Amino acid sequence: MADFDLVVRGGTVATGVGATRADVGITGGAVRAVREGLGPGREEIPADGKLVLPGGVDAHTHIAQRSSMGILTADDFESGTISAVCGGTTTVISFAAQHRGQSPREVVEAYHGEAGPKAVGDYGFHLILSDPTPEALRVEVPALVEEGVSSFKVYMTYEALRVNDRQLLEVLRSARGMGALTMVHAENHGMIGWMSSELLSGGHAAPKFHAVAHGKLAESEATARAIGLAELVDAPLYVVHVSSKEAVEAIAAARARGLKVFAETCPQYLLLTADDLDRPGMEGAAICCSPPPRDRESQQAIWAALRGGALDVLSSDHAPYTMDERGKLAAGPTPPFPRIGNGVPGIELRMPLVFSEGVGRGRLSLERFVTVCCEAPARLFGLWPRKGTIAPGSDADLAVWDPDREVTVRWADLHDRAGYTPYEGRRLRGWPETVVRRGEVVVRDRQPIAAPGSGRFLARGSSEAAAPLGRPSWSVRLARRFGARDFLR
Ligand code: URP
Ligand code: ZN
Ligand code: ZN
Repeated sequence: MADFDLVVRGGTVATGVGATRADVGITGGAVRAVREGLGPGREEIPADGKLVLPGGVDAHTHIAQRSSMGILTADDFESGTISAVCGGTTTVISFAAQHRGQSPREVVEAYHGEAGPKAVGDYGFHLILSDPTPEALRVEVPALVEEGVSSFKVYMTYEALRVNDRQLLEVLRSARGMGALTMVHAENHGMIGWMSSELLSGGHAAPKFHAVAHGKLAESEATARAIGLAELVDAPLYVVHVSSKEAVEAIAAARARGLKVFAETCPQYLLLTADDLDRPGMEGAAICCSPPPRDRESQQAIWAALRGGALDVLSSDHAPYTMDERGKLAAGPTPPFPRIGNGVPGIELRMPLVFSEGVGRGRLSLERFVTVCCEAPARLFGLWPRKGTIAPGSDADLAVWDPDREVTVRWADLHDRAGYTPYEGRRLRGWPETVVRRGEVVVRDRQPIAAPGSGRFLARGSSEAAAPLGRPSWSVRLARRFGARDFLR
């Protein structure tokens, strides 16, 4: 008679607080016990000499999304989430992207239709708001938050998607009232546009000039401005894809002042630099993403901030575009840099890259790796403690990693449809071999085996960041002292 449906036996179980040798007993899709000497399971996964890590939570993926330029990402929810689980990530939070004029409700319904029959990993949605009308913020958006779409993303650049400062204030204020978290793509639109025009008029159109036009100042100025807007209305803020030392400094300064500012980075800012855009012909287009990879100084600052806590989360920003007319080169075979599709693939390699380069090289402890890849995104996006840990009562999402397995990265061995990886040929050490999602083995011996449609939509609750700051801004305090007592209550 079995005590559990499944027992993962004899591994080193690591969570955000520590690592210990234990068995994991799973029944009904949930973890029931974590300790040594558990009784038998109907199925057993031997994990001697292996690490047992929580299933990763990737809080920033673009799947089945049309970009600001109108190009469609190469992955749908089947290939995107198969790629995710093969890299140890069992939960993705992807974007439901509102393009101007679209109803947020219809957008989210359409993404449910896309993901439901295809997803293999569990999934949630952030709502991209490009047209935050007062009516939408009053009626449709609160209803969507109630249904579990409890975070928004806004862009400060990209002509077709961006909001102005006043709209951003409205989104922040509304999010605060709904217990939702606002994510911001922080780059100064005017600086990027001006730099692009200057470069192009000098004949500098190659992909590498993307990294010049999207400079560090454009990022740090917009980051500081977004923080100021959030402070004014006493709302928490989450800064996506932080790439530079200067943006980290703006975030750290805000946190030192007690503001609820949270932030993520991505492997491309830890492992690539602007020089990777300087490849022959259009090859550099493969690395064009916004913000772009920077320099060694920023790489070191990003590693230090991820280690030290100024950056909370490691996401992939998986934005897979093929290197042809359906993707990056939709504007022609040799487009000037502003017309190259922006984004890099990375959903499968997010954890293996940073395990190898971070834990393997002593830049991150194992606990910190689990925190930034699993626990912190679950906490910040309303999934904790269901996701992001291995503990009794949590969903049984975990991956058995062989910490010594050596892998040479080849896109042909990955499961996304981008057609390339920026990390081709890199040698990595450590790889997830068996992956379990809600108690079901979805990857066995590195091969995906789960059925499309077996992933579930995650109706997310409020973020742990969503509680009000407690100390309204100086302007709000003054308004209230002058008699406007209801101001921003
Ligand atoms: O270049 C990027 N990051 N493309 C994806 C869209 C976004 O800005 O996150
Ligand atoms: Zn972005
Ligand atoms: Zn993105």
